[in-house]
Amino acid sequence: MKIAVIGAGNMGGALIKGWAKAGLTADLIITAQTQETLNRYTQVYPGIASTLDNVVAAAEADIVVLAVKPWLIQQVIAQIEHILKDKLLVSVAAGTRHERIDVYAMPNIAAEFGESMTFVEESEKAETVSQLFGKVGQCRIVPQRLMAAGMMMAGCGIAYVMRFLRAMMEGGVEMGFYPDDAKQISMQTMLGALAYLHETKLHPEAAIDKVTTPGGTTIKGLNELDHAAFSSAVIRCLKAGLK
Ligand SMILES: NC(=O)c1ccc[n+]([C@@H]2O[C@H](COP(=O)([O-])OP(=O)(O)OC[C@H]3O[C@@H](n4cnc5c(N)ncnc54)[C@H](OP(=O)(O)O)[C@@H]3O)[C@@H](O)[C@H]2O)c1
Repeated sequence: MKIAVIGAGNMGGALIKGWAKAGLTADLIITAQTQETLNRYTQVYPGIASTLDNVVAAAEADIVVLAVKPWLIQQVIAQIEHILKDKLLVSVAAGTRHERIDVYAMPNIAAEFGESMTFVEESEKAETVSQLFGKVGQCRIVPQRLMAAGMMMAGCGIAYVMRFLRAMMEGGVEMGFYPDDAKQISMQTMLGALAYLHETKLHPEAAIDKVTTPGGTTIKGLNELDHAAFSSAVIRCLKAGLK
């Protein structure tokens, strides 16, 4: 099955690299606005076909994935609509709808490393698209009402996790670690927390109990987070994009 990725930027590029690593190199045809962008992929993966012409790419594909900025979706569909007849048109653009789009998907940039958390909106063809995005991470088919929430938690969520990591690093630097060391320590601690939850299947609060001694240091730090309304800030952060 041939896949055209229209727009090889941050998100399109992560999908392209993720699918290439999953063995789909020969199935990909990619487009961008400039040749420089296309070269960045074809130099690493010579098997990937590329063109600056969206019509040529879409004509060769069975599935066309739109990964341009939301305000370009209308224009790109108008350009390729005449050759879309039996093709599956998928959009990963945030907050954009168009009657010709068959399936809406919301991946994140960890697709490049096979670790995306992707949401696919329920529809007739959702399963086919879910299988494709399942090659670059985990994928959930959800009703339309949950797509925006999924985008905030997983698409934008990557940025929120990075911001937490940065804050932890800054604390580490203030306490005496060099930035690179603080980064490595923060990342390994996060990995450890995730591994613990994965393996034990515990609720995060139950896991917290296991590292919290009454009157000890952990609870002092946790209570400081509560005084600073940490949970409330995270919840408001996730809901901010729904307004
Ligand atoms: N970034 C994320 O984490 C993320 C997550 C989920 C969904 N999305 C969605 O993904 C879409 C793209 O976002 P992005 O962050 O990847 O943007 P981006 O980095 O700016 O990439 C956009 C790409 O589109 C190309 N392009 C521009 N005009 C084009 C045209 N007419 N035909 C073909 N290609 C064209 C650009 O080519 P050049 O490089 O040559 O200029 C660029 O490679 C957005 O709709 C966004 O909502 C993004």
